[in-house]
Amino acid sequence: MAFEIKSVGIIGAGQMGNGIAHVCALAGYDVVLNDLEIDRVKSGLATINGNMVRQVAKGLYSEDDKQSALTRIRGTDQTTDLADVDLLIEAAVEKEEVKRKIFATVCPFLKPETILATNTSSISITRLAASTDRPERFIGIHFMNPVPLMQLVELVRGIATEDETFELAKLFVTRLGKTYAVAEDFPAFMVNRILLPMINEAIYTLYEGVGSVDAIDTAMRLGANHPMGPLQLADFIGLDTCLSIMQVLHEGLADSKYRPCPLLVKYVEAGWLGRKTQRGFYDYRGEKPVPTR
Ligand code: NAI
Repeated sequence: MAFEIKSVGIIGAGQMGNGIAHVCALAGYDVVLNDLEIDRVKSGLATINGNMVRQVAKGLYSEDDKQSALTRIRGTDQTTDLADVDLLIEAAVEKEEVKRKIFATVCPFLKPETILATNTSSISITRLAASTDRPERFIGIHFMNPVPLMQLVELVRGIATEDETFELAKLFVTRLGKTYAVAEDFPAFMVNRILLPMINEAIYTLYEGVGSVDAIDTAMRLGANHPMGPLQLADFIGLDTCLSIMQVLHEGLADSKYRPCPLLVKYVEAGWLGRKTQRGFYDYRGEKPVPTR
């Protein structure tokens, strides 16, 4: 394989984008981290720094490793700064039209051999690939949240993805020290096809008054041995992302069992998106999260 990935561009410096930048830089890749506004880029860089400080304190690597990783990351609000990257990972919001627009903007100035990847949780890889100038060099590389801690990456080939792209993506994930699982290109792939209906059901359980936020989360933590309750997990993922995934499942599989819970819709309409807006099923403004229902 002649082409080698040495640099990675990431679009979106939110919770996933900054996590991907973090693990790429630690693995020795040169990283360009892009977001719409410089303040969001700075906030992503600050999160990476804080997370690395914690990892150094835990003895996972040295202060020198941290410093050299941080110097490998360049933050920018200019998409043209992504021109020279070998792999471009899109990690912007879970909206198909936003993702299409991003690829339409960046493709004209990328090298023809640059691999395109999306971190989408649910949207068709084949459809996104077809909207670009290089569907054969397009692949789904779906990281889990929080990226620095979670071991799994789902790899999703579109119908046109060529073998070289797939092999390069496998090498990339392996060099990050992560494990990949290969999923076919169906709505929400594997992890979210299974996880999100459970979260949506937990929200219905709350909506129908079967239990309180605290009761539902305690029930699943202690009754099903989940490390985190489903409502806490929903807040952690982001309620906008949860809703988008349920909508993709509902539309893509045309089955009423995937209908997003009206309470989830209402929370997103209110701008209560979970931890990232300080309020979701829990209120995060105090020292400890407080259940809201
Ligand atoms: P987020 O809301 O934390 O971050 C999204 C970022 O993208 C924001 O900073 C926003 O300013 C930026 N953005 C939006 N449009 C942009 C554009 N045109 N150019 C550059 N930046 C742009 O969202 P999060 O959670 O990081 O999700 C990002 C993607 O990762 C979504 O596709 C989501 O489905 C996927 N994902 C999310 C997971 C989660 O647990 N939250 C897990 C795995 C994948």
